[in-house]
Amino acid sequence: MTTTHLLSSPACERNRGPLLDVLRQVLPAQGLALEIACGTGQHAAHFAPALPGWQWQPSDPQPECLRSTAAWCAGLANVRTPLLLDVTAPGWPGAPQAVDAIFCANLIHIAPWAACQGLMREAAAHLAPDGQLLTYGPYFVEGEPPAPGNLAFDADLKQRDPAWGVRRLADVQAEAAHHGLRLLRRFDMPANNLTLVWGR
Ligand SMILES: C[S@@+](CC[C@H](N)C(=O)[O-])C[C@H]1O[C@@H](n2cnc3c(N)ncnc32)[C@H](O)[C@@H]1O
Repeated sequence: MTTTHLLSSPACERNRGPLLDVLRQVLPAQGLALEIACGTGQHAAHFAPALPGWQWQPSDPQPECLRSTAAWCAGLANVRTPLLLDVTAPGWPGAPQAVDAIFCANLIHIAPWAACQGLMREAAAHLAPDGQLLTYGPYFVEGEPPAPGNLAFDADLKQRDPAWGVRRLADVQAEAAHHGLRLLRRFDMPANNLTLVWGR
């Protein structure tokens, strides 16, 4: 009997193209990227061949996500073996030091606030001096009317887990600032999402 490990996310299929456009704009020609919460692995499988100067290190705490990512990325020479990593783990055991980019999509609203705290704390510790953290997902932005879709999504998330929810950008910025990171660039993405670029 053959077993397939491929998980599939329709949202990932939709957003991977616009996300790659942003990566091409903000990343230098080469470097080492650590992906936090890689999920199915479809982002890694889409980005790595399009960014041949980059080494891509996917990570996730769920073994089935690591298996799926390995399956999606089979044969891609610039994708490293997926790493078991919980973003809240102090010191990010096993993660490479001095990475040039950290990419994290759709985590901080679908996890307790500790995930955002861990992401900012360890990104500050693991990014090279000019390294960039990219986060992707929905946010509530002060002074901007919330999109109805994001309000509904927030309510749905909180029903699934009261510790989850669409985050206020100001709260994320405060957490980043606590660790010496600041918002460098903002890209408005389809479906009321933002890609945010953070650095020192
Ligand atoms: C909604 S999925 C997003 C997956 C992928 N980034 C995407 O955009 O399609 C959320 C991912 O966060 C991961 N995750 C949940 N808690 C986490 C944690 N504490 N540390 C790292 N990843 C976590 C889950 O295993 C899952 O793969």
